[in-house]
Amino acid sequence: MKRVGAVINAMIEYYSGDIKRINHFMKVYGFAKAIGEMENLEETTQEILEVTAAVHDIGIKVSEEKYHSSAGHYQQIEGPAVAEKMLTALGYEKELIDRVCYLIAHHHTYSNMDGLDYQILVEADFLVNLNEDKVSAEGIKKVKENIFKTKTGLSFLNNCFGE
Ligand SMILES: [Fe+2]
Repeated sequence: MKRVGAVINAMIEYYSGDIKRINHFMKVYGFAKAIGEMENLEETTQEILEVTAAVHDIGIKVSEEKYHSSAGHYQQIEGPAVAEKMLTALGYEKELIDRVCYLIAHHHTYSNMDGLDYQILVEADFLVNLNEDKVSAEGIKKVKENIFKTKTGLSFLNNCFGE
């Protein structure tokens, strides 16, 4: 497993000057890494999860420039190409890049979460967004019932937002 520092370095350079976006993906990365380790993911899945958490919102920059919108729909269209270029330059293999790009394109879709990498990425993004978007207690309860599945993700959710 390659260390993810070089990916984070590239993402911080890519989002230079935008502390809000940088803070967001650093928080998602931290939660995702910890949940993955606590859930005993096998090495390849853990690597895919960590890389994806760092780059999951990579499409926002191009979406804002092209469409003046950060809507999930545009991110899904624009994100994978930018990620593919960045990860290829960093020496990642096509197989890993393909899965990372799939997850970038689907991380706003909550049906058919077809793997623990997908499930944990979504949980980590929610742990951050529920706070950043100041979601109500009722909204948090719905997310808990409908989205969260892993034991660790649920524990983090309960400890962060109360049961
Ligand atoms: Fe996000």
